[in-house]
Amino acid sequence: MTTVETVRVSPDWLELREGADAAARSQDLVRLLRDRLSPVVGGLVIHDLGCGTGAMERWLAPLLPGPQEWILHDRDPELLALAGGATRLSDVTRLEQDELAGASLVTASALLDLLTEDELDGLVAACSAAGCPVLFALSVTGRVQLLPADSFDSRVAAAFDAHQRRTTPRGRLLGPDAVDAAVSAFRRLGAEVLVRPSPWRLGGSDGDLTAAWLTGWVDAACEQEPGLAPDAELYLQRRFREAEAGCLAVTVGHADLLVLP
Ligand SMILES: C[S@@+](CC[C@H](N)C(=O)[O-])C[C@H]1O[C@@H](n2cnc3c(N)ncnc32)[C@H](O)[C@@H]1O
Repeated sequence: MTTVETVRVSPDWLELREGADAAARSQDLVRLLRDRLSPVVGGLVIHDLGCGTGAMERWLAPLLPGPQEWILHDRDPELLALAGGATRLSDVTRLEQDELAGASLVTASALLDLLTEDELDGLVAACSAAGCPVLFALSVTGRVQLLPADSFDSRVAAAFDAHQRRTTPRGRLLGPDAVDAAVSAFRRLGAEVLVRPSPWRLGGSDGDLTAAWLTGWVDAACEQEPGLAPDAELYLQRRFREAEAGCLAVTVGHADLLVLP
């Protein structure tokens, strides 16, 4: 199925997920990263790609040493306006080879699964040309678990994954294949790549995020497979009741990558 792109990301969704993202990103990779960052006169220069409203900087800056200059890239001017600071309106899949020159670190969060393989390869080439560590957090893996289990879970999950891998005018999106594709692309260029799981673990106190995630998960599944819609409506009502009662636990699989040149 070919659908119209580009889907815009809403600031409300980014705000709702910021706490869960912060709790999920791998602290272990940050420790390893800190050991490999070279001290720089004047401070670290960090480029965050697909920055949204700047959540990666808010999370990572306090965990890194010394003065830092963050340069935030996104193609959405409204999100960049909310991010503030030093921003660049750009398509991060078409960065010039020297655009990241002088970077001490390149980061991204919740970006890779939105790209096609060609776009990812372009991004990897630009990062490799920069010759610095790269931290790409929170790419979806396709592993989702809801407890208690429901016989309809696997049908929604399969249709959602197919939606994430859908063909667009830009090509087929990577969705849950993004992590493997990025690891292979960086390793082909000779880099060392470390991968850590970074799942969301949503429980009783995450009601609003759980409800919003469930709605998006089921809507995307039904867009992919319209025949699911009648059963999906009843399924969502069941799941909302469980979430409101605080007895639904959801694990959404992600992975973080640290690339060391
Ligand atoms: C899921 S959001 C994550 C935002 C932010 N990194 C965070 O963790 O909150 C993905 C972001 O990537 C941006 N994006 C997607 N494709 C892009 C591209 N080709 N060039 C620049 N930005 C892109 C979107 O506009 C959006 O802000």
